Amino acid sequence: MFNEQNNINILKNKALSVIILAAGKGTRMISSLPKVLHQIAGKTMLQHVVDVAISLHANNINLVHGHNKDLLSKTLIIQHGVKINWILQSKQKGTGHAVQQALMYLQNEEDILILYGDVPLISLDTLHKLLISLPRHGIALLTNVLNEPDGYGRIIYSNGNISEIVEHKNATNMQRKQLKEVNTGILVAKSNDLKRWLTKLIINTCNDDEIHLTDIVKIAWNEGCSIKAVQPIWFGEATGVNNKLQLVNLERLYQKRLAQKLLSSGVMLADPDRFDLRGEIKYGEDIYIDTNVIFEGKITLGNRVNIGTGCILKNVIIGNDVVINPYTIIENAKLANRSTVGPFANLRSETILDEDVHVGNFVEIKKSYLGKSSKAKHLNYLGDADIGDQVNIGAGVITCNYDGVNKHHTTIGDNVFIGADSQIIAPVKIGSGATIGAGTTVTNNVLPDEMVISRIRQFPIANWTKPKKKK
Ligand code: UD1
Ligand code: CA
Repeated sequence: MFNEQNNINILKNKALSVIILAAGKGTRMISSLPKVLHQIAGKTMLQHVVDVAISLHANNINLVHGHNKDLLSKTLIIQHGVKINWILQSKQKGTGHAVQQALMYLQNEEDILILYGDVPLISLDTLHKLLISLPRHGIALLTNVLNEPDGYGRIIYSNGNISEIVEHKNATNMQRKQLKEVNTGILVAKSNDLKRWLTKLIINTCNDDEIHLTDIVKIAWNEGCSIKAVQPIWFGEATGVNNKLQLVNLERLYQKRLAQKLLSSGVMLADPDRFDLRGEIKYGEDIYIDTNVIFEGKITLGNRVNIGTGCILKNVIIGNDVVINPYTIIENAKLANRSTVGPFANLRSETILDEDVHVGNFVEIKKSYLGKSSKAKHLNYLGDADIGDQVNIGAGVITCNYDGVNKHHTTIGDNVFIGADSQIIAPVKIGSGATIGAGTTVTNNVLPDEMVISRIRQFPIANWTKPKKKK
């Protein structure tokens, strides 16, 4: 079994730098967005790779990029104190040429790990396994064994040792069919060795006029160095993305793996194939998640939370025994114990529901607090409102928080009853215990325990002749 702690200890005293290749045009994506900015699980591929590089605590992280540094750096989130060395590869002349651009930044006597912006899911554990496998003189090479190896470089063995990588396009039909062990591209070598091999690389004129990094394997082999193959802990970690089909395939593969991890730690998912986690999740016991639920950002779920089909939750903190009915959207909100929402509710930023609050169908809430046991069950809009405990908000009630220019605040005390179809025109305060008659337009403050009503009285017109349909 792989021992994480031992490996960290072995690696502690080693000097390490990382090179991330991200300059390729990504032509096969057929997109104006650089390939490495396409997302897996809600995070750009580049961010995945940079995050894992950072967690290795390398001396230097060298990022080889093309003419889109501004775009890449704008989207990259890097914690304070971490420095990225941006290296321009002005013409994309292949992976070998890309690494050559980083040569002048490599110190002597350090290990160099090469990662790829389009191999996003590589894990820290697998990289530790690779780093400790580096021979004294040679290469530790991450390889994958695939049933469908199409597109990948194939690993060639001579007398049981790796001697060469043949790119798919240069391989014979026989090699394409028979060789299932592929190059993931990810490798580690000593800087001194790598520098020597890189200067010996030549342009692959027979095929694409590029300088292939993979050719260092043959050069190292000819020098008598050994090349050691290491496999990833999970094959998806070393899966590359060159086109949109591969992107979605990898996404589904990854989501399935996340779903299986949740299921095996006790979270019930109606269907692991219809589940998406684009962020991080913390959870208690006996959670039930129906089909097609999407989680984004930071999600915290208490015990016995039940989430209906089609819900989208982003950056939420949910208490115990909360029920979220189907097709509800919740973002940047907190729901306390035993609250229920939906179906078809939209809880927007800064919504806080206290314990036992009921929010029903077609209710939109923004930047508002609802106190304990308050109810807004049908067709409401509540924005910029502070609502007390045990408040009953009737069907169709809305806060008019916007005058066309500015937003205004509404305050509603405890035990207030607001009759159906009332409009609360902010800024306004309704004292506790007040009653608002149905259909009222509240324009002035209401005192505690007052009853207000504003609607024309009903008057009858006897023997009314109903209009007739024109012929
Ligand atoms: C490469 C490997 C192949 C391996 C596969 C694994 C080579 C020649 N081939 O093929 O053996 O099976 O990865 O996914 O290395 N890049 C640059 N500058 C360039 C060209 C590429 O920075 O001039 C970057 C790209 O942004 C990308 C990575 O290098 O992140 C790999 O390039 P790509 O063209 O996708 O190589 P593959 O054809 O996938
Ligand atoms: Ca690739």
